[in-house]
Amino acid sequence: MRTILLLFLASLLLFLTSAARAQQPTFIPVASVNQLMKAIVIPTSDAIFQVAMKAPETDEEWTAMQNNALTLAESGNLLMIGSRAKDQGDWIKAAQALVNAGTVAFKAAEAKNEDALIEAGDQVYATCEGCHSRYLEGAQIG
Ligand code: HEC
Repeated sequence: MRTILLLFLASLLLFLTSAARAQQPTFIPVASVNQLMKAIVIPTSDAIFQVAMKAPETDEEWTAMQNNALTLAESGNLLMIGSRAKDQGDWIKAAQALVNAGTVAFKAAEAKNEDALIEAGDQVYATCEGCHSRYLEGAQIG
Protein backbone atom coordinates (compact mmCIF):
# COMPACT_ATOMS: atom_id res chain seq x y z
CA MET A 1 0.00 0.00 0.00
CA ARG A 2 2.78 2.32 0.99
CA THR A 3 4.81 1.51 -2.12
CA ILE A 4 1.84 2.22 -4.34
CA LEU A 5 1.32 5.56 -2.67
CA LEU A 6 4.99 6.42 -3.06
CA LEU A 7 4.94 5.38 -6.71
CA PHE A 8 1.88 7.50 -7.24
CA LEU A 9 3.51 10.51 -5.60
CA ALA A 10 6.70 10.01 -7.58
CA SER A 11 4.88 9.91 -10.90
CA LEU A 12 2.79 12.92 -9.93
CA LEU A 13 5.98 14.82 -9.18
CA LEU A 14 7.47 13.76 -12.51
CA PHE A 15 4.34 14.89 -14.31
CA LEU A 16 4.30 18.25 -12.55
CA THR A 17 7.97 19.01 -13.20
CA SER A 18 7.74 18.12 -16.88
CA ALA A 19 4.59 20.25 -17.18
CA ALA A 20 6.43 23.15 -15.56
CA ARG A 21 9.37 22.67 -17.92
CA ALA A 22 7.10 22.59 -20.94
CA GLN A 23 5.70 25.98 -19.95
CA GLN A 24 9.09 27.68 -19.83
CA PRO A 25 9.39 30.10 -22.73
CA THR A 26 12.40 29.71 -24.97
CA PHE A 27 14.72 32.59 -24.26
CA ILE A 28 17.28 33.40 -26.91
CA PRO A 29 20.19 35.21 -25.21
CA VAL A 30 21.96 37.44 -27.73
CA ALA A 31 24.48 39.42 -25.70
CA SER A 32 27.24 38.09 -23.45
CA VAL A 33 27.40 39.36 -19.85
CA ASN A 34 30.17 41.73 -20.93
CA GLN A 35 28.06 43.10 -23.80
CA LEU A 36 25.05 43.49 -21.49
CA MET A 37 27.23 45.53 -19.12
CA LYS A 38 28.40 47.82 -21.92
CA ALA A 39 25.13 48.14 -23.81
CA ILE A 40 22.65 48.42 -20.97
CA VAL A 41 23.97 48.26 -17.40
CA ILE A 42 26.76 50.86 -17.65
CA PRO A 43 24.96 53.62 -19.61
CA THR A 44 21.69 53.38 -17.66
CA SER A 45 23.39 53.29 -14.25
CA ASP A 46 25.71 56.15 -15.29
CA ALA A 47 22.67 58.29 -16.03
CA ILE A 48 21.41 57.62 -12.51
CA PHE A 49 24.83 58.33 -10.92
CA GLN A 50 24.88 61.70 -12.76
CA VAL A 51 21.89 62.90 -10.76
CA ALA A 52 24.19 63.70 -7.83
CA MET A 53 25.87 66.28 -10.12
CA LYS A 54 22.83 67.50 -11.99
CA ALA A 55 19.21 66.52 -11.39
CA PRO A 56 16.72 66.22 -14.26
CA GLU A 57 14.74 69.42 -14.75
CA THR A 58 12.31 69.16 -17.62
CA ASP A 59 9.56 66.56 -17.97
CA GLU A 60 11.52 65.04 -20.85
CA GLU A 61 14.59 64.65 -18.65
CA TRP A 62 12.55 63.00 -15.90
CA THR A 63 10.93 60.66 -18.40
CA ALA A 64 14.36 59.73 -19.76
CA MET A 65 15.50 59.03 -16.20
CA GLN A 66 12.47 56.82 -15.53
CA ASN A 67 13.24 54.86 -18.69
CA ASN A 68 16.89 54.47 -17.69
CA ALA A 69 15.91 53.13 -14.29
CA LEU A 70 13.34 50.73 -15.79
CA THR A 71 15.87 49.44 -18.31
CA LEU A 72 18.49 49.00 -15.58
CA ALA A 73 16.02 47.11 -13.38
CA GLU A 74 15.06 44.78 -16.24
CA SER A 75 18.72 44.16 -17.10
CA GLY A 76 18.91 42.29 -13.78
CA ASN A 77 16.38 39.83 -15.19
CA LEU A 78 18.45 39.45 -18.36
CA LEU A 79 21.47 38.55 -16.21
CA MET A 80 19.54 35.56 -14.81
CA ILE A 81 18.81 33.96 -18.19
CA GLY A 82 20.49 30.75 -19.31
CA SER A 83 24.26 30.49 -19.27
CA ARG A 84 24.61 34.14 -18.19
CA ALA A 85 23.85 32.93 -14.67
CA LYS A 86 27.19 31.70 -13.31
CA ASP A 87 25.28 29.72 -10.66
CA GLN A 88 21.78 29.45 -9.26
CA GLY A 89 22.67 30.87 -5.84
CA ASP A 90 24.70 34.04 -5.22
CA TRP A 91 24.56 35.09 -8.88
CA ILE A 92 20.77 35.07 -8.89
CA LYS A 93 20.71 37.01 -5.62
CA ALA A 94 23.13 39.61 -7.04
CA ALA A 95 21.03 39.97 -10.19
CA GLN A 96 17.85 40.26 -8.12
CA ALA A 97 19.52 42.98 -6.04
CA LEU A 98 20.03 44.92 -9.28
CA VAL A 99 16.35 44.44 -10.21
CA ASN A 100 15.35 45.75 -6.77
CA ALA A 101 17.71 48.74 -6.76
CA GLY A 102 16.65 49.66 -10.31
CA THR A 103 13.01 49.49 -9.21
CA VAL A 104 13.71 51.80 -6.25
CA ALA A 105 15.40 54.22 -8.68
CA PHE A 106 12.43 54.00 -11.03
CA LYS A 107 10.00 54.87 -8.24
CA ALA A 108 12.17 57.82 -7.20
CA ALA A 109 12.29 59.06 -10.81
CA GLU A 110 8.55 58.56 -11.16
CA ALA A 111 8.05 60.72 -8.05
CA LYS A 112 10.62 63.20 -9.46
CA ASN A 113 12.35 62.98 -6.09
CA GLU A 114 15.98 64.01 -6.52
CA ASP A 115 17.16 62.99 -3.04
CA ALA A 116 15.51 59.58 -3.26
CA LEU A 117 17.07 59.08 -6.68
CA ILE A 118 20.56 59.87 -5.36
CA GLU A 119 20.00 57.38 -2.54
CA ALA A 120 18.76 54.81 -5.04
CA GLY A 121 21.96 55.45 -7.00
CA ASP A 122 23.98 54.45 -3.94
CA GLN A 123 21.92 51.28 -3.67
CA VAL A 124 22.51 50.56 -7.37
CA TYR A 125 26.25 51.09 -6.96
CA ALA A 126 26.28 48.63 -4.04
CA THR A 127 24.75 45.95 -6.28
CA CYS A 128 27.48 46.45 -8.93
CA GLU A 129 30.10 46.08 -6.22
CA GLY A 130 28.35 43.11 -4.65
CA CYS A 131 28.38 41.08 -7.83
CA HIS A 132 31.83 42.15 -9.03
CA SER A 133 33.52 41.44 -5.70
CA ARG A 134 32.21 37.88 -5.91
CA TYR A 135 32.59 37.20 -9.64
CA LEU A 136 35.35 39.48 -10.95
CA GLU A 137 38.42 38.55 -8.98
CA GLY A 138 40.88 41.41 -8.67
CA ALA A 139 38.84 43.66 -10.94
CA GLN A 140 38.97 47.39 -10.26
CA ILE A 141 35.64 48.32 -11.76
CA GLY A 142 32.39 49.67 -10.34
C1 HEC B 1 24.99 39.79 -11.34
C2 HEC B 1 26.34 40.23 -11.51
C3 HEC B 1 26.68 41.61 -11.95
C4 HEC B 1 26.06 42.79 -11.64
C5 HEC B 1 24.86 43.02 -10.74
C6 HEC B 1 26.81 43.84 -12.30
N1 HEC B 1 27.84 43.30 -13.02
FE1 HEC B 1 29.16 44.35 -14.15
N2 HEC B 1 30.07 42.61 -14.69
C7 HEC B 1 29.71 41.35 -14.25
C8 HEC B 1 30.57 40.36 -14.87
C9 HEC B 1 30.52 38.85 -14.66
C10 HEC B 1 31.46 41.08 -15.70
C11 HEC B 1 32.59 40.50 -16.57
C12 HEC B 1 32.02 40.08 -17.88
C13 HEC B 1 33.08 39.48 -18.78
O1 HEC B 1 34.05 40.16 -19.05
O2 HEC B 1 32.88 38.35 -19.18
C14 HEC B 1 31.13 42.49 -15.54
C15 HEC B 1 31.80 43.53 -16.18
C16 HEC B 1 31.59 44.86 -15.96
C17 HEC B 1 32.40 45.93 -16.50
C18 HEC B 1 33.63 45.76 -17.37
C19 HEC B 1 33.24 45.83 -18.82
C20 HEC B 1 34.47 45.84 -19.70
O3 HEC B 1 34.90 46.93 -20.08
O4 HEC B 1 35.00 44.77 -19.99
C21 HEC B 1 31.87 47.11 -16.05
C22 HEC B 1 32.38 48.52 -16.30
C23 HEC B 1 30.70 46.76 -15.26
N3 HEC B 1 30.57 45.39 -15.23
C24 HEC B 1 29.87 47.69 -14.66
C25 HEC B 1 28.77 47.36 -13.87
C26 HEC B 1 27.92 48.33 -13.23
C27 HEC B 1 28.10 49.84 -13.34
C28 HEC B 1 26.98 47.61 -12.54
C29 HEC B 1 25.87 48.11 -11.66
C30 HEC B 1 24.98 49.12 -12.18
C31 HEC B 1 27.25 46.20 -12.75
N4 HEC B 1 28.34 46.09 -13.56
C32 HEC B 1 26.51 45.20 -12.21
C33 HEC B 1 28.70 41.05 -13.38
C34 HEC B 1 27.80 41.95 -12.83
